[in-house]
Amino acid sequence: MPISLLIDTDPGLDDAIAIALALGSPEVDVIGISTVGGNTNLANTTRNALRLLEFLNRTDIPVASGHDEPYARAKQETGNPPVHGTDGFASVDLPEPSTQVVSTDAPAFLAQKIREAKDPVTLVAIGPLTNIAHLVDRFPEVLPLVDRFIIMGGAAQTGNVTPVAEFNIWHDPEAAKVVFNSALKTVMVGLDVTHSVKTYETEWEWMNAFGKFGEVFVQMMTYYTDFYSQFYGERMTHQHDALAMAEAIWPGIMVLQETTIDVETKGELTDGMTVVDQRDRKGRGRNSWVAWEIDGNEFHARLGQALRRLAAPFES
Ligand code: BDR
Ligand code: CA
Repeated sequence: MPISLLIDTDPGLDDAIAIALALGSPEVDVIGISTVGGNTNLANTTRNALRLLEFLNRTDIPVASGHDEPYARAKQETGNPPVHGTDGFASVDLPEPSTQVVSTDAPAFLAQKIREAKDPVTLVAIGPLTNIAHLVDRFPEVLPLVDRFIIMGGAAQTGNVTPVAEFNIWHDPEAAKVVFNSALKTVMVGLDVTHSVKTYETEWEWMNAFGKFGEVFVQMMTYYTDFYSQFYGERMTHQHDALAMAEAIWPGIMVLQETTIDVETKGELTDGMTVVDQRDRKGRGRNSWVAWEIDGNEFHARLGQALRRLAAPFES
C-alpha cells in the first residue's frame, strides 16, 4: 500500500521538483497539497501549485491555500533578489489552472485529510511552518494520527539566510517554535543534509528529449542554477525540498538522530536559529529527529527514476 502523503509547500523552484518527485513515486499517494507564503506571496504559491498540477495532469489532487502572513510577526525581506523569480516559478510558461482551491483554510483542510485517511498519513512541510503551527493550535486532536512529520527547514550547524538561520524557519520562527514544541515529532531535514548534496546542471539534460516537460523544468533549474552559481561558482543547486521529500517517500534513506530541537525567536544575531541539543540538557525529552547524512548518488538515481516516469507522456 502506498503511503498517504500530504504536502505543505510554497512553490518555489525546488518545491516544484519535490512535488514532481512525489508524483512520480509509486511508493506514495499524494492526497492533498496546501500552500503557504514563503518563497513568494500566497497568491503566487497557490497559482504555482495549481499550474504545476494542471501541467502534470494531476488536477485530481485537491489544493487548499493557507496563510500568507507569518504566525506572529510581519513578513521580513531577505535582502536578496528573489531566488525563485518574481512569480516564484522563474516566469516559466505554464498553463493557467482550470481548477481552483477546494478551501482557503489550509489547517482545516489538512485536519480533515488527516482524519479521513484510512491509515496514518505522512505530512511533509517544505515551506515556512505557518500553516502547520495553526494546525497544531486549532486541531490538536489530529496530531496523533500523523504517522510521520518531515520538514525541510533549519540546520544544526549553519544557516543560509543568516549565518545561523535557514530560510523556512527564519521566515516564521514563532510558527516553527510552536511546531517543535507540539505533539508532532518532527524529522528535521535541514541544511546539514541539503548542503551536502550538489545537483549539477547536467542532472537535468535528459529532460530535453521530453518536449514541454523538458522546457519547463530545464528553464526552472537553469534559473535556480544561475542563482547558486553566483555564490558557489559552480553550475549546481541544492535540492532542499526534494531531499526532505525523499525521506518522506523512502523512510530511512538518510541517517537520522533522535534529539531535542527548539527555535530562537528573540536573539539579535540568532533569530530563527534551530537549536539542536543532542544531549537534551534540560531533560525535556527528545521531540525530534535531525537528519545528518544521505547518499547523494542514491538520491539522484531515485530522483531521476521518478522524474522519468512523469516525463514519459511528454516524449517528443
Ligand atoms: C528552503 O527555502 C526555500 O527557498 C526553498 O524552497 C527551501 O524550502 C531552503 O532554505
Ligand atoms: Ca520550499
